[in-house]
Amino acid sequence: MRLDKFVCKSTTLTRSDAIQYIQHGAVSVNGEIVKNERSQVHESNAVMLNGETLSPRPFRYILMHKPAGTICSNVDEAYPSLFNDTHIEHTEELHIAGRLDADTTGLVLLTDDGHWSFNITTPSKHCEKVYRVGLSRPIRDDAAEQFERGVLLQGENKPTLPAKLNIVSPKEVTLTITEGKFHQVKRMFAAIGNRVVSLHRERIGEVLLDVEEGKWRFLSEGEIASFRH
Ligand code: URA
Repeated sequence: MRLDKFVCKSTTLTRSDAIQYIQHGAVSVNGEIVKNERSQVHESNAVMLNGETLSPRPFRYILMHKPAGTICSNVDEAYPSLFNDTHIEHTEELHIAGRLDADTTGLVLLTDDGHWSFNITTPSKHCEKVYRVGLSRPIRDDAAEQFERGVLLQGENKPTLPAKLNIVSPKEVTLTITEGKFHQVKRMFAAIGNRVVSLHRERIGEVLLDVEEGKWRFLSEGEIASFRH
C-alpha cells in the first residue's frame, strides 16, 4: 500500500497531515528516510514515524442494513451518508463493495481491503447479489427467460449476464445478478417495459442480511473467507 495510507492506517493522522510528516522526513522505511508519500510499502516493512514503529490497524469487514434516503458515500451529499449515527470509526478508510441507490435499502458490505472487495464487485468472479423488487406492473410471463438470456440496457452495447428471476407475486419478484452496472436492476426492468417501485438487497454471495435497518455488524471469519476464491 502507499506510504501515506500506511501512516493513516496506523495513526489518527489525516491523509494531508501524513503527507506533511512524510515530506518533512519524519518517516522511515526499513531504516531509510522516505519522503515520497506515493512509495509502496508492505505490511512486513518496518515503518517508523519520529522513531516510533507503526503497525496498521487490521482490515475491517462490515455488513450494514442501509436505510432508504441515505447515500453510499463517506460524506453527506444530496442525501445523508449511510455512516451517519453508526459510530463506526475511521469511516474515511472504508469503501462500499457494490453501492446502492439512495432509495434502495438492504445489504451493503464495507471494507478497507480492496483485494477482498474486488472479488465481490468484478463480474468475472460471479458473486451473486439478490434483490427483492417491487414492480409497477405485473411481471411478464417471458421475463425469466429474457433475463436468463440477457437484456440490452439503454446505452450499453453488450447484453447483461444471465440473471435468475423468481416470481413471488405478480408485482413482486427476486432477481439474482452477478454484475453491478449503474442502476442495473432498474434498467433491466425498464428494458422489459416495467418499472421498479421498491428495491431491497437481501444477499451477497453467501451473506444474508440479518440486522435491522440502520444497524451493522462485523462479518464472521467464515463470511470473510467465503469471498476469497
Ligand atoms: N440496481 C439498481 O438499479 N439500484 C440499486 O440500488 C442496486 C442495483
